[in-house]
Amino acid sequence: MSEGFAAVDVIRTKRDGGVLSGAQIDWVLDAYTRGAVADEQMAALAMAILLRGMTPGEIARWTAAMIASGERLDLSTVDRPTADKHSTGGVGDKITLPLTPLVAACGAAVPQLSGRGLGHTGGTLDKLESIPGLRTRLTNEEFVGQLRDVGAAICAAGDELAPADRKLYALRDVTGTVESIPLIASSIMSKKIAEGTSALVLDVKVGTGAFMKDLGNARELARTMVDLGNAHGVTTVALLTDMSTPLGLAIGNAVEVAESLEVLAGGGPADVVALTLALAREMLDAAGLSDVDPAAVLSSGQAMDSWRAVVRAQGGDPDAALPVARETEPVRASRDGYVSTVDAWGIGVAAWRLGAGRARKEDPVSFGAGVLLHRRPGDRVRAGDVLYELRTDEPERFPAALAEAEGAVTVTEAPPEQRPLVLERIA
Ligand code: URA
Repeated sequence: MSEGFAAVDVIRTKRDGGVLSGAQIDWVLDAYTRGAVADEQMAALAMAILLRGMTPGEIARWTAAMIASGERLDLSTVDRPTADKHSTGGVGDKITLPLTPLVAACGAAVPQLSGRGLGHTGGTLDKLESIPGLRTRLTNEEFVGQLRDVGAAICAAGDELAPADRKLYALRDVTGTVESIPLIASSIMSKKIAEGTSALVLDVKVGTGAFMKDLGNARELARTMVDLGNAHGVTTVALLTDMSTPLGLAIGNAVEVAESLEVLAGGGPADVVALTLALAREMLDAAGLSDVDPAAVLSSGQAMDSWRAVVRAQGGDPDAALPVARETEPVRASRDGYVSTVDAWGIGVAAWRLGAGRARKEDPVSFGAGVLLHRRPGDRVRAGDVLYELRTDEPERFPAALAEAEGAVTVTEAPPEQRPLVLERIA
């Protein structure tokens, strides 16, 4: 690794709008991972990057240096084509749960390294851990063995995978430097490339409940990530999808697992089914399995069999009852009309206030807490009908959650315009 830079010179270069050299990037990420560059120096550099941006060449080098900070998994002993999906995060986004076993049942292997929720967005690991007994920490040997035997694993990334990103992401979270396209793209793609998948489908969320609130920024993030993946030999495609309304009817942890089981059983909300199938088709295409029809596999029950095998392989009991919150509070419509908006941000924050999410990464989550929608945009309602219900074990949480959710759900005289779920595809 090249030596001889002073961190302050690297910071000044970016602060003044310059382009970092490859050697500067390699050095600063290596030195930061080793502890030779201090947190306050890296925080200043992250802020300079957020304000000044990075060239495509800098982003590519930054990503490569983050991958090189740790190990790269070797999936060559898995004899099926590998395909993974990553979502940039949303409200009610449980798609990984039905999608992973579905794509495995279609013949691919799905190496799904997932994260925890922070703030108003949920995390797949928190949802999965509401299943009694299920482990989300697997060794590399267990992970690769499960991909060979069962065709899918959904677990946390090991400590040796892109350690520079783990350290930098925690720092960005507390220094207001998360919302930078170069930093988000390199953070996500370094982990996905190091994980060893051959194909990757990105679900880039756009709307009030997403990191990216507008289409232009989401498009730029998607383009940046697709180019990074392809440059590293990972066949990468992105769908830009709407996150102005939560996905499905359930927002929380156990309630989202229950809704995913409905999808695997052949039912479930239409938007969750449609997005699961759209992403499955992209993953199968990217993995060279475009002749398999995921809709037929879903209705055959094979995806449910695959789910049960994944849960069992990770120590969970697929037949165990899921946690249910002790207290519920229904909210009713005050007038006749049509549900006009169910705003993802407001509902996501309400679920968080009820205990489904966490404020700091070391906080526990409540598995039973969350919001259950009874109506979606476009549905007809009469005064007195239940619009949604809040669920928690701690009723003192209701007032704050009600305040967030009330403004999020509106009823108007005329029906709203229907929005498409998939907005764009970027390959
Ligand atoms: N998710 C990540 O893994 N990294 C980011 O920077 C943002 C979201």
